Amino acid sequence: MNKIVDFDAKVFFIKEQGSGYGVYQVILEVPESFVSQAKPGMFSVFATRDKTHLLRRPFSISGASYNRLAFLIKNVGPNTDYYVHLKHGDIINISNPRGQSIYIDNKINHYILVAGSIGAAPLIFLAKYLRKFGKRVTVLLGGRNISQIVGVNFFRTYGCEIKIIVEEHELPNVGLVTNLLKEEFELLKKKTSIVTCGSMPMMKAVAEMCKQKQITCQLILESVFACSIGVCSGCVVFMQDKTTRHICVDGPAFWAHELDLNQLNSVPRLCGSFKNK
Ligand SMILES: Cc1cc2nc3c(=O)[nH]c(=O)nc-3n(C[C@H](O)[C@H](O)[C@H](O)COP(=O)(O)OP(=O)(O)OC[C@H]3O[C@@H](n4cnc5c(N)ncnc54)[C@H](O)[C@@H]3O)c2cc1C
Ligand code: FES
Repeated sequence: MNKIVDFDAKVFFIKEQGSGYGVYQVILEVPESFVSQAKPGMFSVFATRDKTHLLRRPFSISGASYNRLAFLIKNVGPNTDYYVHLKHGDIINISNPRGQSIYIDNKINHYILVAGSIGAAPLIFLAKYLRKFGKRVTVLLGGRNISQIVGVNFFRTYGCEIKIIVEEHELPNVGLVTNLLKEEFELLKKKTSIVTCGSMPMMKAVAEMCKQKQITCQLILESVFACSIGVCSGCVVFMQDKTTRHICVDGPAFWAHELDLNQLNSVPRLCGSFKNK
């Protein structure tokens, strides 16, 4: 069993992000060994110290430096509400970085990151990592409206090319983030790889477009976790070869070509199912 080891983490900084969509940046002070283990795509599970909230909750690591891990948390329910209202100096329990990270191919120099709303959280860490290794990074951000676009400042700081599209008529670019991906595919000259995180229909559409173009694609899958250690089978995904995997231990990063894309909708309540707040 992949046992969870909890450590005390001290709240260093919490700030609501500007858009009014209820997304907060949460920075925690943690043992330095945690920070060196953190790779893009990995997550930590949070628990309250007094166990007032019984189920541990997973959050993607959106940054890691010195003795700090950063997270972007959207307030959607009792646990996230608790965590985004912590104060500087408060202590919670978090696990060491967990899960399988994104595979980065040395031979690929251009990555396109496709994010739906809060799905940007793990891609922020990935973008910084890729830029550090001199890769070109194009970020495609989509959401229902402009308030749902998450992470622009981070991606800009890291020197990514950013394109934004929303479904409501607030910007010249109206439509789905897959429209932007289609445009990118027309411009492609060099070998490129795609990483996506967001709602299930969006990731499925991205994966199918990549399959058609024979472009490699990784998905960061999110589902409701109960045990987070591969025991309850609440987070099972189906693979092309008819086997199953657990998002909490075998994921959250998966290759699109290994997943049974037709079964993805059966993964319980993914990112895009959040109600608009
Ligand atoms: C690997 C992984 C990484 C994640 N990373 C992040 C992150 O970086 N930032 C972030 O804000 N959230 C992230 N999530 C989702 C986060 O764990 C949930 O939002 C959180 O557990 C909700 O807890 P709650 O008690 O506040 O709300 P609940 O009362 O549990 O849920 C409130 C509402 O949100 C829905 N919901 C709950 N969990 C999820 C989920 N995982 N996906 C979609 N809908 C959900 C419920 O169906 C319900 O409608 C991640 C989930 C996973 C599995
Ligand atoms: S959450 Fe229980 S097996 Fe993954």
